[in-house]
Amino acid sequence: MVKNNDRLGGTGEMSIVKKSSTGLDRRSFIKSASLAALAGAGSAVSGPVSAQESSASIPRLASGNYDFDTPYNRVGTDCARWDSPPIRYPEGTFKYGMGVASMDFECAPCITEALQERVKHHNWGYLSSTEGLRNGILRWNGEHHGVDLSPDSVTISDGIYPGMIAAMRAFVPRGSKVLLSTPAYSGFFSMARAANVEVIDSEMEYKNGRYEINWQDLEEKMTPEVRVMIVCNPQNPTGNVWTEEELLRVGRLCLDHNVVVLSDEIHSDVIRAGHKFTPFGSLPDQAVVNNSISFNAISKTFNLAGMKNAYYYSKSPVMLERVNKYHRAELSTLGVVANEAAYNEGWEWFEQANAYMDENHTFIENYVKQNMPTVGYVKNEGTYMTFLDFSKTMKTVGAEEQHRSHNKASAEHYFQDWLVHNSGVYLNPGTDYGSGGAGHMRMNIASSRLVVRDVLEAMASAVNNA
Ligand SMILES: Cc1ncc(COP(=O)(O)O)c(C=O)c1O
Repeated sequence: MVKNNDRLGGTGEMSIVKKSSTGLDRRSFIKSASLAALAGAGSAVSGPVSAQESSASIPRLASGNYDFDTPYNRVGTDCARWDSPPIRYPEGTFKYGMGVASMDFECAPCITEALQERVKHHNWGYLSSTEGLRNGILRWNGEHHGVDLSPDSVTISDGIYPGMIAAMRAFVPRGSKVLLSTPAYSGFFSMARAANVEVIDSEMEYKNGRYEINWQDLEEKMTPEVRVMIVCNPQNPTGNVWTEEELLRVGRLCLDHNVVVLSDEIHSDVIRAGHKFTPFGSLPDQAVVNNSISFNAISKTFNLAGMKNAYYYSKSPVMLERVNKYHRAELSTLGVVANEAAYNEGWEWFEQANAYMDENHTFIENYVKQNMPTVGYVKNEGTYMTFLDFSKTMKTVGAEEQHRSHNKASAEHYFQDWLVHNSGVYLNPGTDYGSGGAGHMRMNIASSRLVVRDVLEAMASAVNNA
C-alpha cells in the first residue's frame, strides 16, 4: 500500500510495498518507467514538498490555500487512472495516466477526518438511515444550483449508472431507442447496452472552437422509436456547459416528439470561470421540467467515485415512480460518511480545487497553442477533461492504415498506443465517445500542474517529431 502521507519530492522515493494481483511489481514499475518526472517536478515546487509524517490530509501553503501543486502519489492504490494502463503496457512505456475521470489531488480534509472518526467504531452491519446524506443533497442543490428539491423527489443511488439504466428500462420499451448528442461520455453506450436499448447519435458540429448541436439533425433523429434523450450537462468530453436557451430548445423538441429527457449533471460543479451551469430541473418551463429526470453526484466534485454515491430527482412524481420501480442500489457506510462530510464541509476545498483546474485549462490552452501548433484545442467551459484534436499527427503517423494492420478498433485506438510508446502519455480515444470524436483524444487535466506540464512536454516532443 501507499502510505497515507506519501508524497513525491524530498527523498525522491515512494513507499510502494504492494505486489499487485496482476504480478506487476509497482516499485520496479515506478523506478523503471514512470514517475521520475513527478519526483523531479515535486522538487521544483516551493512549499511543503517532502513527505510529512504527521499530515493526514492535503497540506496548506503559506498563503493558507491548499497545495494542489505537489503531486500526490496514487500508484499502487488500485486506481483505474494510474494502475490500469500499465497492465496494457507491461513493457513499461506507460508513464502518465491522463485518461479515467478521477482527480489526482489529495481529498478534502473533512472527508478523511469523518472517515477516520467512523473507523474508530468497529462494526459494519447494514445502514439504517441516509437522512443526513439526503439533507446534504437538498442543501447543495439549493445553495449551489438554485434548485429547490423536496426530500421525496430525490432517490439516492450508488452511481449514475444504476439510475440511468433503470430510467432506460422504464421509458424505452424493447425495440425503441435512446438519442444522444455526440461526442458524449462513453459510459452512456455501456448503460444502453445494459438496458438492452439501441443508441442513436446526433453528431454535433464543431463551429468557431465550440461543439454546437445540429438542430435539424437532432429533430430528424427524434423518430417515434426514440423514447429518451440523454443530455450531458456539462458535456463530457467536449466541456460544453449548455445555456438555458439551448436546454429549453432541447427540452421543447423532446416534449413535442414524446421523448423523455435524462439529464446527466455529474460534472455540474466543475464549471470554468465566466460560465454558468443551468440545471435542467430549473428551466422556466414546467412542462419541459416535468418531462425530465436529473442525475447527479458529488463524485466528480470531490473525487469520490470509489465511494459509490449518486442520486436522481424529478419534479414529476409519476416519472420518478416509474424509474424507482426498476432501480435498486445498496450504499456503503463509508460512502455515506464521506459524501455527507463533503456536502457539509467540503466547499472551501472544492472552490480552490476548481480554481486550480481552471488555471490548468488555461495553461494547457496556452501551451498547446504555443508549442503544439498541429494540435487543435477545444475551448472548455466545464469539466476537468479536455478534448484535443490530434488529427494532423494521426495522419502523419498513418493511424488510419496502421489501425487495420494492428487490429485496433479505430485509428484513434492505434494513436492511443502510439502516444504511450512515444511519450508515455495515456489518453482516451475520441471514437469511444460516439460519432464526432474522430481525430480527437480526451485528456484529464485534474492533476498537479507540474505533472500537466511534464505531460505536455512529453506529448509535444512526440508530436513535433512524428
Ligand atoms: C457524464 C458522466 N456520467 C456518469 C459517469 C459515471 O458515474 P458513476 O460512476 O456515478 O456511475 C461519468 C464518469 O466519468 C461521467 O463523466
